[in-house]
Amino acid sequence: MKIGIYPGSFDPITNGHLDIIQRASSICDEVIVSVITNPSKNPLFTLEERVELIKEVVKPFGNVKVDCFTGLLVDYARIKEAKVIIKGLRAVSDFEYEFQMALMNRKLAPEIETIFLMTSSKNSYLSSSIVKEVAKLGGCIEGLVPDIIKKEILKKL
Ligand code: PNS
Repeated sequence: MKIGIYPGSFDPITNGHLDIIQRASSICDEVIVSVITNPSKNPLFTLEERVELIKEVVKPFGNVKVDCFTGLLVDYARIKEAKVIIKGLRAVSDFEYEFQMALMNRKLAPEIETIFLMTSSKNSYLSSSIVKEVAKLGGCIEGLVPDIIKKEILKKL
């Protein structure tokens, strides 16, 4: 059974994340979307809210689970018996940091492979931060996040 971990802050999940989840779900037997419990940023949504919102939007995918983790990602991946870490890459600007993390994760856990999925071009400019900023300033976030997430963002602001 090939289990893939898709880790992140997901504050909140965007259509870019969802695209990566959908594609990962077609190459792994099981994908665990894992929300980090201690992001350095001050999140808009609590951990519990982020987990519940992701659960709602991944309902159509039969082999996707949602969980949270703390500490080292590779330790968590080992507990879950995952052999693959899934990451999305949007632009060159993502590369340097992701490359560093992938190499460190490989040093810590050589048996776990990081797989990068290139973002679909329609999502390449999307991030949770930019969606929140646009929403805060009254801009339209239609089509950038699932409808239920849009509703929850607008409720928060
Ligand atoms: O959505 P984000 O905030 O870009 O996700 C970053 C995340 C959670 C993937 C990254 O911070 C992470 O893996 N944190 C776990 C702590 C860890 O293992 N650090 C060493 C990585 S080299």
